[in-house]
Amino acid sequence: MLRRLLSDRMRALALAHALLASTAYAGAPDKVTNIFNPLSTPAEAAHRVALLTLAVCAVIFITVACLLIYAIVRFRRRREDDESEPSQIYGSNQIELAWTVLPILIVVVLILVTARTIADIEDYPRPTDAIKVTIVGRQWWWDIRYPDLGIVTANELHVPISESGRRQPTFLTLESADVAHSFWVPQLAGKTDLIPNRVNRMWIEPKQAGVYLGNCAEYCGTQHAKMRLRVIAHPPEEFARWVESQRRHEAEATPASAGRERFFSTSCVNCHAVQGTSAKGTFGPDLTHLMSRETLGSGAAPNNPETLRVWVRNPQAIKEGCLMPDMRLSDQDLDQIVAYLLTLK
Ligand code: CUA
Repeated sequence: MLRRLLSDRMRALALAHALLASTAYAGAPDKVTNIFNPLSTPAEAAHRVALLTLAVCAVIFITVACLLIYAIVRFRRRREDDESEPSQIYGSNQIELAWTVLPILIVVVLILVTARTIADIEDYPRPTDAIKVTIVGRQWWWDIRYPDLGIVTANELHVPISESGRRQPTFLTLESADVAHSFWVPQLAGKTDLIPNRVNRMWIEPKQAGVYLGNCAEYCGTQHAKMRLRVIAHPPEEFARWVESQRRHEAEATPASAGRERFFSTSCVNCHAVQGTSAKGTFGPDLTHLMSRETLGSGAAPNNPETLRVWVRNPQAIKEGCLMPDMRLSDQDLDQIVAYLLTLK
């Protein structure tokens, strides 16, 4: 019986969704994180369950509120009432059964719909040509690696969009290097935690090009709030160009310079990597294509020559508590190192 009820529900939902889809789901990603405008397959599925739950709660709320208002008005104290206590009622099998069984049924339906949606998303088979990305949560930034493409970047995930006729989902492998984090870009998918010593998986399938905003959604320490995410979804050709540009490595491009020498003679290289050079640190973000990123410090500031200089001088001024220390560089060293970083496009 429940199964039939459930499949009817799903059909009704699918219909409602199809109607909504023609109007509400078009357009570009929002400028703020938004759970009500899904633009990716798993987010659409989660959104359907959220709407069902919201609708059920709304019906319960309206019913209870109406009954309450009715009782207050109908049985209010009147002038002609005597002061005696009204007759007291103890126990009613019918009413007690109704308010026990009905909520249980409602909760069971919500559990089944939710479990089915989660299973559908988790069991979705990975197509052989899906983009694979490994994301490692760190205090307080995102290490992003494309093992098949040989690309390493940070905080800004670039993916292709799915177009009608050519689906192109991206499958994410989520790990943590320190504490629990949570990957959450509401318009793309539900939250998935990044947990130490555990590998979690999720996938996204954006359908509109643009920048999707997200946050770490699990408190992970001082700068949890500045552990922001940007997912940049490109049309396929544009994504191919991005991949091409990221695979070109520094060593082939940058001429020797004072800044370059300065950078490689300081402890920058212990924490940061620049592909194709001797800088192989993995504690901080990979800097190979630093200037191709829009933000610094995982969304803490826009990435431009001025903020970059402020950041290198003393990262604590922008992101207090972050694990990159104030290196106390002289002004000359600072200028040279920043000049070198600006060449890492
Ligand atoms: Cu990472 Cu909160």
